[in-house]
Amino acid sequence: MQEEQRIEELRRTLHSHNHQYYVLAEPTISDRAFDALLSELVLLESARPDLFDPNSPSQRVGGGFTDQFEKVAHSSPMLSLANSYSREEVQEWADRIHRESAGETSFTCELKYDGVAIALQYEGRQLVRALTRGDGTVGEDITKNVRTIRSIPLTLPSSAPEKLEVRGEIILPFAAFEALNAKKQEKGEKLFANPRNTAAGTLKLQDSGVVAQRGLDCFLYDVQLEAPEQWEVQGHSDGVKSAAEWGFKTPLTLSRAFEVAQSVDGVMAFLAHWDVARNALPFAIDGVVLKVDRHAQRKTLGSTAKAPRWALAFKFETEQGLTRLQRIAYQIGRTGAVTPVAHLDPVPIAGTTVQKASLHNADQIAMLDIREGDMVRVEKGGEIIPKVVGVVLEERPKDSTPHVYATECPDCQTPLVRAEDEARHYCPNASGCPEQMKGRIEHFASRRAMNIDGLGSEGVEQLWSAGLIRDVADLYRLEVSALLTLDRMGEKRAGKLLAGIEASKEVPFERVLFGLGIRHVGETVAKRLARHFGSLEALTEATQEALLELDVVGPVIAEAVVEWWAQADNADRVNALQNSGLQFAVADVEDAAVSRVLADKSFVVSGVFSVPRDELKRLVEQHGGRLLGAVSGKTDYLLAGEKMGPSKREKAERLNVEVLSEADFRALLP
Ligand code: IVH
Repeated sequence: MQEEQRIEELRRTLHSHNHQYYVLAEPTISDRAFDALLSELVLLESARPDLFDPNSPSQRVGGGFTDQFEKVAHSSPMLSLANSYSREEVQEWADRIHRESAGETSFTCELKYDGVAIALQYEGRQLVRALTRGDGTVGEDITKNVRTIRSIPLTLPSSAPEKLEVRGEIILPFAAFEALNAKKQEKGEKLFANPRNTAAGTLKLQDSGVVAQRGLDCFLYDVQLEAPEQWEVQGHSDGVKSAAEWGFKTPLTLSRAFEVAQSVDGVMAFLAHWDVARNALPFAIDGVVLKVDRHAQRKTLGSTAKAPRWALAFKFETEQGLTRLQRIAYQIGRTGAVTPVAHLDPVPIAGTTVQKASLHNADQIAMLDIREGDMVRVEKGGEIIPKVVGVVLEERPKDSTPHVYATECPDCQTPLVRAEDEARHYCPNASGCPEQMKGRIEHFASRRAMNIDGLGSEGVEQLWSAGLIRDVADLYRLEVSALLTLDRMGEKRAGKLLAGIEASKEVPFERVLFGLGIRHVGETVAKRLARHFGSLEALTEATQEALLELDVVGPVIAEAVVEWWAQADNADRVNALQNSGLQFAVADVEDAAVSRVLADKSFVVSGVFSVPRDELKRLVEQHGGRLLGAVSGKTDYLLAGEKMGPSKREKAERLNVEVLSEADFRALLP
């Protein structure tokens, strides 16, 4: 019995320390003392499996595995927000509210967290369910993963209502995002694009143990009470205050991140403050959200099908920074494509320090007359790579001269070429340019291709400088004795590398084909080619006409493929790889098929969904559908997520292509 009491006591204590640390950022004990209590709890719990509690602090480390996230209907729809981009629009919105509802209006002003919406349901003051937004009506149950987020309370104090739903946003702070990408870089894996995508992807991981380590955080800003009067909650701001008292991390924990304005002037002051202060936040926001505070007034105003009339998102302009352009350098990609890169004096933009930015191509540099030594405006939009968007001419140094675009490859000094209709320059020395050769090996080893563990860009560089590799085929001739002569290469690392190379021999043909780096043959095309032709032999014999039969193949791709095989060194390379035992035929085409309901239907998938886009693409293929890169007359369906560009939708409408939401799409599947 004593044991049981101690378990309860430890759980309570640890929950409270968690709250102190992760919500209030005011720990009252040391990490060591915390760990000691936690170990004690874990030990006691292991002796008493009958007292298992999914909401015990010991469960924060995760470890639960979810096969498939169950779909659950929301208690009330999770709506989105109307957007505005200027102060005039904000003024108009406020004017309309004044016209349409009587009396004074107070507005709450808060941040628009750039993360993933979440609905947390509590019953008996225990977290019982966490749902993604999904299509707004039906979400997915990701409770196991959400339990690992330390700032989300698993149990509520007795002062909280018996039944409660709170909604908010799960975010990945910049520090955690950058740490994660640093690790990926080390391993030579593809980097995550931005914190929001990473948070979304993390929440859909099957292993909650991995989720627990990612450093997600959560702000709760919406309290759904069954009987608000009972809780003296007249308005949104009361609800948020109560939520903070019940242990949730709300915007109130941050200075000036939640304000109640009695007039539009107060709203404008809030916008002005965050227009600047947002740059210093440790996480990403994409605007500010304004809401009518009082629930009674919200009711009068009502909602449209998509968004409430009582709320408005104000989006900031894309963030810019001003800095000195030290020099213009050139990067050579694996295909020989040249990218001019601006090296900058470090400048903070949107929470990260920017030192390099894209300059696109020669035309862009000439058009903006960008010169070394200029003060330039750098912009960070939705993408991770910042770009130089303009020059401050007034600050141009007197001795400045126009930039002369490179005429030869900085790596192999071969004169650069530029095709009539292309914006880019190329280094034509495909078989002898070291940058291209290294790039091809890197691409071959990358995750989406051969996925060779331990062979990222640094690894390739090291093997290259030691003269051990000049081509992908050389990887399969590496010997442990040669590896051991390298710096920082002990038996362990060498063993791991060789094991990774050995394992790559099992990688399916379609990824081998993608890994070869044939120009214009991306993952999708490689997959279709592999499945259509079935083997290397059949593919090498395919004529341009035969290739053009595939709807993903146009004349440019067909020509590139035929030309590739025709080159003697490519044929030799493939021969060597074949002798090393790589997969050059499709193992079993029907293997992955789940159904044929989408047979002969072609899809374009675009935008942001409740799950990573790749997952939807995989579903299309598993059910016999085909993926296309762009909307055309051949497209049957456009599967449209959030934030899809308007031009795709317009084109689909013009060509009579049916547009599907994620929910429509899922309804097609058995
Ligand atoms: S209120 C009915 N407040 O923005 C209004 N949403 O574009 C419900 N978001 O799905 C949302 N910060 O995920 C609200 N302070 C905030 C927010 C916020 C971020 C997200 C939320 C919502 C999306 C709508």
